[in-house]
Amino acid sequence: MPAVFALADDVALRLVETGDGVALSTALTRNAEHLAPWDPIREPGYATTERQEDFVAEMRAQFATSSAAAFVLTDGAQVIGQATVSHILRGPFLSANLGYWLDAGWTGRGLMTAAVGAIAEFSRDDLGLHRLQAATLERNEPSQGVLTRAGFERIGLAPRYLQIAGTWQDHVLFQRILE
Ligand SMILES: CC(C)(COP(=O)(O)OP(=O)(O)OC[C@H]1O[C@@H](n2cnc3c(N)ncnc32)[C@H](O)[C@@H]1OP(=O)(O)O)[C@@H](O)C(=O)NCCC(=O)NCCS
Repeated sequence: MPAVFALADDVALRLVETGDGVALSTALTRNAEHLAPWDPIREPGYATTERQEDFVAEMRAQFATSSAAAFVLTDGAQVIGQATVSHILRGPFLSANLGYWLDAGWTGRGLMTAAVGAIAEFSRDDLGLHRLQAATLERNEPSQGVLTRAGFERIGLAPRYLQIAGTWQDHVLFQRILE
């Protein structure tokens, strides 16, 4: 994947950069209601520029040690989505978790499907991974659609897997073998 990957005419995918905190804060504030049913309950101040700049710094530090890779989807200076490859484990596992969200105004255009495809290639070619895993709520059909279109397969149901919106909820697990 090039440093800036074109997903559509004006929409790009790239690794997070220092200074993205402002645009991330704006996007998360604008999308608070859209994301709340699918996210853990966020601590007060989560969407502030300061906290998002902390997130960027942490992700860049983890990228430097090959522990994670965080991406933004951008439309010019605006952040319209975000995706993170996290918890990279090496040795015989060579696997990581994938999470993502898209601005409510940018859904329905195939952008996250294209982003996940590019991130899978990046995970194989640049991070040297064998496998990506993603977990969705059973009712999150849009997210399951993204994963299926991007070449992931359903591997099972994990009971009470993640605490989402304040409740431990069952999740459908998906994986993509990258080679
Ligand atoms: C999950 C989420 C990113 C999916 O967004 P999305 O817009 O449905 O996904 P994509 O960007 O890949 O777009 C796919 C949609 O665009 C349509 N589409 C249009 N052009 C397309 C193209 N060239 N390629 C693929 N799909 C295209 C698809 O048909 C699909 O629409 P449909 O579901 O009505 O059939 C979004 O709903 C979201 O951010 N939700 C809240 C956070 C969340 O759930 N995160 C995931 C937690 S597991």
